[in-house]
Amino acid sequence: MSSKCFVPALAAAGLVTFAAMGYSQAPQKAKRASAPQQHAEGSAHGAAITKAIAVMHPTKGSKVDGTVTFTKVENGVRVQAHIHNLAAGKHGFHIHEFGDCSSPDAMSAGGHFNPEKTEHAGPKTHKRHIGDLGNIDADDSGHAHYDMVDDQLRFEGPTSILGRGLIIHEKADDFKTQPTGNAGGRVSCGVIGVAKGS
Ligand code: CU
Ligand code: ZN
Repeated sequence: MSSKCFVPALAAAGLVTFAAMGYSQAPQKAKRASAPQQHAEGSAHGAAITKAIAVMHPTKGSKVDGTVTFTKVENGVRVQAHIHNLAAGKHGFHIHEFGDCSSPDAMSAGGHFNPEKTEHAGPKTHKRHIGDLGNIDADDSGHAHYDMVDDQLRFEGPTSILGRGLIIHEKADDFKTQPTGNAGGRVSCGVIGVAKGS
């Protein structure tokens, strides 16, 4: 048994090694071959990412949760939010620098996403933090619905919002106070990730 089994085992090991070598070379070849094709698809159909989602989680002592989707449209990105368990009224709503909701108060998400080093402002102001989405407005039942097309949001390049944090604040954003809009504490935090159907 020992010698008969040993030879096939060696042969099998050789096959594995051969396969592994073949595999390690395959992606390089594939990459070279498909690069022009990818480019063609990209320009013809926009094969890039077209949809993202942030699932919002309550910070410590909060119950605010919900879902926010980001969908690429002709003139920007459509942002649609459904948020629950908010206090009635306006709440600052921003993309923050880091996709890190690990600290109980969500301060780990950093400040407003501001790759162009501009001043804080409202969403309709051209010179603003890219993350300045304004306010979401909750009704008496604590539900807030936000639906806006924003022409400054991108899924690609150095200002891409993918992987960044999304924050809902305790208070309204005044669109003036630097650099936060004086929106107070953070009641909900999520991370903007690539969505199915993208
Ligand atoms: Cu914020
Ligand atoms: Zn800002």
